[in-house]
Amino acid sequence: MNKTKLCYLNVMPFLLVVSIFFGVYTSEAADVPDPRTIYLTWIDDPSTTIIVHYHDYASNRTETKLDFRRKGRAQWLTKTGISVRHPYTGDASTIVPPEPLRLVHTVHLTGLWPDTDYEFRFSESGKIYRFRSMPGNLDETEVRVALGGDLYHIRSEMQNTMRRVAERDPHFVVIGGDWAYADGLEERLWKWDHLWEDWMEYMYDSEGRLIPIIAVIGNHETIGSYRSTREYSPYFYTYFAFPAEGYGAIDFGTYLSVIALDTEHSNPPITGSDFQTLWLEQALDQRNEINHIIASHHLTAYPSHRDKDGARETRIRRHWHPLFEQYDVGLVFENHDHTYHRTHYIREGNINPWGIKYLGAGNWGTRTRDVWNPHTTWYLEEAFGTVYKPGIDEDPINPHPLTGQSANPENARHFYLLKVRENDITVESINGNGEVFHSFTHPSRHMRADAQRIPLSTGDNLPGMPSSYVLFQNYPNPFNRVTVIRYGIPDRSNVRIAIHNLEGKKIKLLLNEEKEGGYHHVVWQTDVSSGIYYYTIEATSLVDPPDRFTKRRKMILLK
Ligand SMILES: [Fe+2]
Repeated sequence: MNKTKLCYLNVMPFLLVVSIFFGVYTSEAADVPDPRTIYLTWIDDPSTTIIVHYHDYASNRTETKLDFRRKGRAQWLTKTGISVRHPYTGDASTIVPPEPLRLVHTVHLTGLWPDTDYEFRFSESGKIYRFRSMPGNLDETEVRVALGGDLYHIRSEMQNTMRRVAERDPHFVVIGGDWAYADGLEERLWKWDHLWEDWMEYMYDSEGRLIPIIAVIGNHETIGSYRSTREYSPYFYTYFAFPAEGYGAIDFGTYLSVIALDTEHSNPPITGSDFQTLWLEQALDQRNEINHIIASHHLTAYPSHRDKDGARETRIRRHWHPLFEQYDVGLVFENHDHTYHRTHYIREGNINPWGIKYLGAGNWGTRTRDVWNPHTTWYLEEAFGTVYKPGIDEDPINPHPLTGQSANPENARHFYLLKVRENDITVESINGNGEVFHSFTHPSRHMRADAQRIPLSTGDNLPGMPSSYVLFQNYPNPFNRVTVIRYGIPDRSNVRIAIHNLEGKKIKLLLNEEKEGGYHHVVWQTDVSSGIYYYTIEATSLVDPPDRFTKRRKMILLK
């Protein structure tokens, strides 16, 4: 062997190492793929901040950083963040072959302009992703919020609902728990991977911007479903910066607060003196000025499939519902039943227009279940599922004709779309075909507080004395089964209030009595069919000189 050859052999390993090193280095600089999973959430003001989460599947990014800029600006700003190890990858992986280490990155962008488009990227040659900061107020706009839960039993159904949600162009979505049905387990990591893959495929608004998420925890995020600490929900707490305790509130200016609650999956039982309930009371007390407060939790306070008297359901009603009433959290979104239901407005265990409406119950992509017949379940305004089972108030000897019949499964697959405006929220129920099958309008807390000065349950005399006769618009309107008609009379009068249908036929004489001067109301609770109805007041004064007043108003009954 000559000397030259020997020398060459000696340096070969070194050259090989150098060339591999430079090869990797140069290809890394040019070709590191974008993260496969990228999604957005908030921990604070959504009009000026955002959280970008991204997952690095091959540990080829040790640094957490991205470039971002206001759309239209030339200069990129670089923001760094933090990363955590994925709980079941790298040396924590026990499956064969083991999952390479993944990192879950979090970058907190702050100082944003409200209601403004932003761009971000992970490398100079990488794709540009976009989002829009939330408006700081609702002066000239409405905010659309999509809500659903219970996503991944059937992947094609999950994907379909994602498409339906995205085509409604929401500003953000609230997912009410039971995301991937991974139960916190390592061997079901693939289910989360599918979910994120589909999220990256579908969840963009009409302008191609990523749709942010507010996350709520469910039993299928948790090993053992119901635990008192976070360590049994490893995916949930690794994937989402919010809610860091399993519960929390996000405030959108003063127009909307979204409260995420944990129905005992990673927090202690709801006893009333548990941290979460104490926090809830304080959080609501601090939000008196907010126009709209909505809440989302996974288990149902008022189920349409499961047992209403289950221990956890009962605790939610006992300890959270009174707070919802006290602070007028008018709309509560619940999940877990894999059905569709809307309750009546419920207050103190009764139907009452000033109460809380529960909207459920988690069927984004799950197998649909049967439901209580709403005609024989006092609190259900509507319910859809596979078939109707006997309602909880149903007489077994004399069953309701719908019991045992199909319960309109097409509408059981659903999500809600809220259109939030200054004074009200329009709530649309949308099925898997993308059709709006129900819609109603819920007034803001301030509007309800004004209307609510009229006590419903105890007597009907109100403070104040009208200077002339008046018939107010009924509330709510449109309504389903129950509405309130208010009127005022300046002095003692005979008062008749009657309901007529569109053809002028009298449906009901609601009131025919002598009343003292003042403001009064009557409640109309009915089972007549949907349509337009009129209510007419005829009041004749019993003082001298006699005075007579008649007035007719229109109302809409929607079922
Ligand atoms: Fe569930």
